[in-house]
Amino acid sequence: MNRDEIIKVLKNPNAEKTKEIFSLADAVRKKSVGDEVHLRAIIEISNYCKESCLYCGLNKNNKNLKRYRLSEEEIFSTALKAFNFGFQTIVIQSGEDPLIKTEFIENVVKRIKDNLDVAITLSLGERNLDDYKRWKDAGSDRILLKFETSDLYLYNQLRGKNEKVHKRVEMLKELRTIGYEIGSGIMVGTPFQSYESLVDDLFLMKELDLDMIAIGPYIPHKDTPLNDKLNSIVVKDPEATTLILVALSRILNPFANIPSTTALSVIDPKEGRINGLKCGANVIMPDLTPEPYKSLYEIYDGKTSSPEWNEISQENLLRSLKMAGRIPSSSKGSRIKKIYPLQ
Ligand code: 5AD
Repeated sequence: MNRDEIIKVLKNPNAEKTKEIFSLADAVRKKSVGDEVHLRAIIEISNYCKESCLYCGLNKNNKNLKRYRLSEEEIFSTALKAFNFGFQTIVIQSGEDPLIKTEFIENVVKRIKDNLDVAITLSLGERNLDDYKRWKDAGSDRILLKFETSDLYLYNQLRGKNEKVHKRVEMLKELRTIGYEIGSGIMVGTPFQSYESLVDDLFLMKELDLDMIAIGPYIPHKDTPLNDKLNSIVVKDPEATTLILVALSRILNPFANIPSTTALSVIDPKEGRINGLKCGANVIMPDLTPEPYKSLYEIYDGKTSSPEWNEISQENLLRSLKMAGRIPSSSKGSRIKKIYPLQ
């Protein structure tokens, strides 16, 4: 499909065409990365943020949010719990918190790597390259840094910035050169975002040759400035559009790791995760953050309503995978480097 055809499908998805795209994506997924689903445990270590992104509930101007920061001990014990559940990747995530010291993350990464056989993904926002080098030396494997949208004008508008070049896109390229697997992605359906720019996003994700591609619907948050701009939303159905973009990403990037994002499961708690897996995704990233902190990581409305991860959540997840004909991965799930189609 070329650019115009994709725009047409996104604007007016008919049942037949979407079904065709989903089946092709599912077939490509099966042939390239197989039936395994990689399970990654997210630990949200701080909800402090120095930024004022108009869409995000953690933005520094939100005075209704109680802030927290986990101790090394709390992070490690959560990582251990995740490991015991069978997770083989730990994702250490936070707002852009300048008071998280470089050395603190270094120690956390070393401690986890010394004691648990897991991969570590860092999702801590923009930091300088020296920090990221030190964290690589400490043993971290992957970075998740969403560029949110390739449209620099929209990006600046949504993040209250005035950047001349897309800094996050540049950072991703640099992070790859120091040896990280790089993951990035976008939000779908923010106010002012056009269908055309979503197609540019698709092509940028392909161009960056991302190891991991995360696409999630925008969900409003009541205490954010963007909540007053909802009548400027162009994308009619962010959830359906997200699924089509996930499927197209799989077709364009056969071997990438593609999560069925949390935001999909928040919009549709019963089927959201599985729907993502059926149209190309091969990764699930449950939130393992312990209470009372989990409830405070409220990026968007409804995000924190599920209970703390426990045996029942784990069983439910494994059962739903089985019902979808998928199996939990037996590996850490690094990106497979092969050329498609398979010979
Ligand atoms: N809806 C959906 N995703 C959001 N994020 C932030 N706010 C929202 C929202 N309202 C995502 C962004 C960001 C990450 C912290 O969470 O992609 O990178």
